[in-house]
Amino acid sequence: MIPQKPKAPELHFSEYISSVRSKLISEGKTGDNAPGVYVRTFGCQQNEADSERMMGVAISMGYRKVEAPEEAKLILVNTCAVREHAEKKALSIIGSYKHIKDSDSEVIIGVGGCMVTQGHRADKLKMSYPYVNFVFDTGSLHKLPELICGALQGSPRRIVSCGDSFSITEGIPIASEKSYRGWLSVMYGCNNFCSYCIVPYTRGRERSRHPDAILAEARELVRGGALDITLLGQNVNSFGNGTDFGMDISDLIREICKIPGDFRLRFMTSHPKDASDKLIAVMAEEEKVVPHFHLPIQSGSDDVLRRMNRKYSSADYMRIIEKLKAAVPDVSITSDIIVGFPGETDADFEDTLKIIREVEYDMIFSFIYSPRTGTPAATMEGQIPKEVSNERYERLLELQNDISLSRNKRFIGREMTVIADEVSRTDKNMLTGRGDPVRPIHFAGSSDLIGKNVRVKITDADTFSLRAEIIL
Ligand code: 5AD
Ligand code: SF4
Repeated sequence: MIPQKPKAPELHFSEYISSVRSKLISEGKTGDNAPGVYVRTFGCQQNEADSERMMGVAISMGYRKVEAPEEAKLILVNTCAVREHAEKKALSIIGSYKHIKDSDSEVIIGVGGCMVTQGHRADKLKMSYPYVNFVFDTGSLHKLPELICGALQGSPRRIVSCGDSFSITEGIPIASEKSYRGWLSVMYGCNNFCSYCIVPYTRGRERSRHPDAILAEARELVRGGALDITLLGQNVNSFGNGTDFGMDISDLIREICKIPGDFRLRFMTSHPKDASDKLIAVMAEEEKVVPHFHLPIQSGSDDVLRRMNRKYSSADYMRIIEKLKAAVPDVSITSDIIVGFPGETDADFEDTLKIIREVEYDMIFSFIYSPRTGTPAATMEGQIPKEVSNERYERLLELQNDISLSRNKRFIGREMTVIADEVSRTDKNMLTGRGDPVRPIHFAGSSDLIGKNVRVKITDADTFSLRAEIIL
């Protein structure tokens, strides 16, 4: 038998972090002299949350956050795959970083996220973007410290994939973009396999974080000054499924609400097939839960819904909406809608418009269907010509804009608490804040209010935003 060379024991990610940290300290690269890190994020809030972990890893290593890729020694791109447009944009941005690497060969470029979790995209990066140091899929975020460490030591390029072994790694450091606003992942992955969607392939099967880890992170966020926390999951209603936690999403929300502090709680995304009465009751009863339910319908046509594999009918959906409206007075409802799904007829599209009129959404995220390689819908018959989709999309926006305007107007005259989020780009005396309305709220105020709760009275509303004045 050939004696096996003993394998070097795998280091924990924290050991790679410490080793880079010690190296930078020993080289005097600290404070303003520390190398810069720039993270560019595409896509959903889950990606925002993952990017805060990427930034957390780099900062723990001793990097310093910078606002432009040209100032960075480490550039990380967190990609999205949900529509073709997002992929094209990411590829073009990655392409634009070549000149940075050309002018400084020490710059490290890493690409992660959903796009590169698809084998054909990882291959493309490998072949056509030779200056990218490493690529890591969504199941390999915990490998980031090792990858950065290796790249610093001049290791060859690496393309890392977890295969089908998506898991959960706790303890990866987080650098929140805004301390007063927290993203809190409660579950990852999706088992629903909607026929148009790439997510089950890029994020793996559903798995829930342990409630103790979630509650500890929630307490940490509140201690750190979070005023607004959003629980994240591709399908938050599946939290706890297949575990012995003895807790579902409703129980978890109630537990988080018990944490003392002046914070609001949101959650997304809910799938209509399992949006439960229990969850609606939580929204109705828990003061900290913002009365906003994001409940994507995707299409108003039962035929399209069946081919999308959504597992509910438009009547099922409307039953939930009615319960929600009855239980939570003045609830804001938002939705995702796909226009131009394969085989969508004019009548199907009219059914979608009908639902929009009936529900009266505060806001809709609408998308033109984008075929995703490897999903069943990509090869369905009846792909819709671009002109038809575009025309339907415009009609949908027009209808929704009218509804948004009238929904926004209901807030005029109301007093409410909002978090001042940022200074307006066009007028430094104006702030933009967020509160119960799903749309941003603009009001006059000074920048020292950023990150604080402010009492305002809504004075006016248009389609996309509200205006207010500060009250004492
Ligand atoms: N084309 C267009 N929109 C899509 N979405 C998901 N996959 C696709 C696709 N292939 C939309 C759905 C989902 C939202 C996050 O993105 O509406 O709810
Ligand atoms: Fe995609 Fe459907 Fe899962 Fe949402 S529920 S992530 S649309 S497969």
